[in-house]
Amino acid sequence: MLQIHQIKENIYCFRGLDRTHFDFHGSVFKTTDGASYMAYLVIDKEITLIDTMDEALTEEFKVEVLKVLNGRKIDNIIINHVEPDHSFAYEDIKDMFPEAKTYCSKLAAKALKNMFFKEHTYTEVDSLETINTGKYNFTFALTPFIHWPDNMITYLGEEKILFSNDAFGSLVTGDALYDDEYDYDKDLFRHCKEYYANIVMPCSKFVAKRLPEILGLNLPIEMVCPSHGIIWRKDIIKIITQYLKWANFEEIKDKVVIVYDTIWDSTHKVAKEIASGLEEKGIEVSLYRAKTARPSEVITDIMDAKAVLIGSSNFNNTMVPTIADILERMIALKPQGKIGMSFGSFGWVNTHLKRIDTRLEEAGINVIEAPHYENFRPDEKDREFAKAVGENLAKRILEK
Ligand code: FEO
Repeated sequence: MLQIHQIKENIYCFRGLDRTHFDFHGSVFKTTDGASYMAYLVIDKEITLIDTMDEALTEEFKVEVLKVLNGRKIDNIIINHVEPDHSFAYEDIKDMFPEAKTYCSKLAAKALKNMFFKEHTYTEVDSLETINTGKYNFTFALTPFIHWPDNMITYLGEEKILFSNDAFGSLVTGDALYDDEYDYDKDLFRHCKEYYANIVMPCSKFVAKRLPEILGLNLPIEMVCPSHGIIWRKDIIKIITQYLKWANFEEIKDKVVIVYDTIWDSTHKVAKEIASGLEEKGIEVSLYRAKTARPSEVITDIMDAKAVLIGSSNFNNTMVPTIADILERMIALKPQGKIGMSFGSFGWVNTHLKRIDTRLEEAGINVIEAPHYENFRPDEKDREFAKAVGENLAKRILEK
């Protein structure tokens, strides 16, 4: 479904709502409510399209753009970012309006050629370069690694609008377009947090550096128009402040995330005892079995935890594959400022937990304890020991 919203007298938002596909940004990020994709059309002496549309909504997008154009043509296409959820429709739009000029970063121009195998003339722009379309001026700011190297944002000064592409996006797929139509704490920030954790978190050091630089330009902003989720107009400073907190990992709590998987239930028993030791000492615990958990939710939970515990049975000579999945995500998404340890059971060899520790270290986790092994099923004494592991960890967390 494609919504069209007139957000200003001369500006239209095309908001594609895809509530039937739960793969987001490719195939590794599973959402619960689908996803939304936004592109913008600015009518002036020259008409400018900012970003395009995901594959699933491209045909509808083309039809609706033509309706809004009402016989006019697109003169300029601004590609803030080349990832296909924003650029898939670019080639079709370019075929429809071959005279349109394309503005993008240097790296985006290179990537577009590699993606579409067609030679177009791209106007490569740099930070603070401006184009004029009549009464409007569009100013660009490169934002490399927020979250791909090619990313940039575009500012429309006359309307005080920032077109931020992936930045400040969210997983909201409700019918309403604006932030003030949602409950910030119940809906918006929950969806934004999951989006940040799974898309933006690995770029946190760039966010922490680049965002204050952009804010330092003191541009008046009345609307932030991302390419996912909703438009921010009510409390823009709140979402910007929240981004800075996430980027600097300022919201880490006395919380432990335990992710385990189990073959014959022994590692599950150990996980429950460790969790019980932590909880009895007042630590918040999230306990996930990797086989049934949604990895994107687990990663979101890890973002503000103080410790991550990874448990696995021994699977011949390595960890259970679902645990490898979570660890590879952690390596890719780089949660910071956490301690961690591994635990689990084995029958005849116990090499798997050392492999887990190595991957935890690759993910930037400070591994603080030797792996906690159980040989076959934990008996009563083993269970007491596992509970004590949780209690000791709780003490350490509360002392930090
Ligand atoms: Fe929503 Fe990096 O694309």
